[in-house]
Amino acid sequence: MDQDPDAIAEAGKRLAGYPVTMVHANFVTLKNVLESHGTKADGILMDLGVSSHELDEGSRGFSYHKDAPLDMRMSQEGETAADLVNRLSEAELASVIFRYGEEKYARSIAANIVKARAVKPIETTLELADLITESVPAKARRDKHPARKTFQALRILTNRELDVLESAMCDAFEMLKPGGRLVILTFHSLEDRMVKQQFAKWCTGCTCPPEFPVCICGHKPEGMLPHKKPIVADAEELAINPRSRSAKLRCIEKL
Ligand SMILES: C[S@@+](CC[C@H](N)C(=O)[O-])C[C@H]1O[C@@H](n2cnc3c(N)ncnc32)[C@H](O)[C@@H]1O
Ligand SMILES: [Zn+2]
Repeated sequence: MDQDPDAIAEAGKRLAGYPVTMVHANFVTLKNVLESHGTKADGILMDLGVSSHELDEGSRGFSYHKDAPLDMRMSQEGETAADLVNRLSEAELASVIFRYGEEKYARSIAANIVKARAVKPIETTLELADLITESVPAKARRDKHPARKTFQALRILTNRELDVLESAMCDAFEMLKPGGRLVILTFHSLEDRMVKQQFAKWCTGCTCPPEFPVCICGHKPEGMLPHKKPIVADAEELAINPRSRSAKLRCIEKL
């Protein structure tokens, strides 16, 4: 499954001749997709985030290095990042940039966005990237690109990534056969934290307040973790694929 028509087209070419079924859809529809095939799953791998194709194809508007319309939609449908940047209130922008980007200069960036768009709507990646650079103090321009966190925040918002993950991961776990495994590959800490916490919940079962001396809820664990720690890329993989640097893989087995 992939929500990006480009990915489905490319995979169709690469996998021609293999016994695979490709579905152009968002992971939130996974339950319907499996039900329509009349099956539960032995294993589900969710490879989240954006693809190298989406990042490198400048025209998709994910990159602050390449000038393009500020799009960022994996599905190529619905509101673009530019639509959101020009529509949301200053408070909403500041909150999104702070929460999804963990950007400490969120307020000043949001204020400058609102000032700039009053003159003319923000349309391109570089327009926004320059505006962000001007909104942060010089010391914040030294190491990583100052637009990195805000671009991450807008990408998460445009694709509703965290809402989708919450719902898709629950449906995926429900649709596993006993003994089946759900494996999720995330690319930033907000996603990884959600996966880690949800997996821990499934493994605990009991929902009684911690101060209860004994369990009265009767909830039993539904899963177990074959690996206690997330699996990350080793030096060899990092050398051939530097983008694996931020990847964390977690796995849960359904009891
Ligand atoms: C990191 S890439 C991996 C692509 C593919 N698995 C590969 O290895 O080439 C993530 C892909 O997942 C897709 N994607 C991300 N979130 C999705 C979602 N909620 N529903 C469907 N596809 C999604 C993106 O469009 C992107 O093509
Ligand atoms: Zn309990």
